[in-house]
Amino acid sequence: MDEPLQALLASLYADGVHHDAAEPDRLLRRRNLEPATAELLAQLVRIVGARRVVEIGTSNGYSTIWLAVAARDVGGRVVSVDVQEWPELRANLRRAGVSVDLRLLEGGAYLASLPSGSVDLLFLDAEREEYAGWWPDPIRVLRPGGVLAVDNVLSHPGEVASFLSLIASDPRCRSATVPVGKGLSLTWRGH
Ligand SMILES: C[S@@+](CC[C@H](N)C(=O)[O-])C[C@H]1O[C@@H](n2cnc3c(N)ncnc32)[C@H](O)[C@@H]1O
Repeated sequence: MDEPLQALLASLYADGVHHDAAEPDRLLRRRNLEPATAELLAQLVRIVGARRVVEIGTSNGYSTIWLAVAARDVGGRVVSVDVQEWPELRANLRRAGVSVDLRLLEGGAYLASLPSGSVDLLFLDAEREEYAGWWPDPIRVLRPGGVLAVDNVLSHPGEVASFLSLIASDPRCRSATVPVGKGLSLTWRGH
């Protein structure tokens, strides 16, 4: 990643931390992914060769930029889905020089609309208690060998417990929790 892009991401993240500290309404906070988690996720996109990347929970585009740069490295693209469009989102993507397919939709409804096996890497970063209600689509949409990444599994274990249990009950899935940032669950979807 070149220096101007690194500087942009660092400034977006710092600005987000500052913004969120002054915002009492949780739903109006940007809640950007921790940089170490974003870097790991982006590297995973490259290693897996994930050309079809889906993110649920765009916010102002911080994690989206990390994913889009990595997807571009392997000839892929990111679809990022959110129930609202944040005012600075498109400007941030432009400044980063990335092209992303944005969808203004409910994440579960979007996943339900996708064909089986059509996603290489799915990243869930929305309202955690909703994920279990999306079952089985988060795994159904993954191609065999695809990856499901879920943030906040160590910071909010109670909110993701039922979803992680559903994953654990699927014999095709192998999961691990990486203690980076707020805790990233990584699931490999086997055959
Ligand atoms: C934690 S923030 C995402 C942060 C972003 N991934 C980043 O690192 O910059 C959660 C986002 O999920 C969105 N969201 C909440 N519920 C959703 C749903 N059911 N479907 C899609 N997006 C949702 C919110 O509007 C918010 O922008």
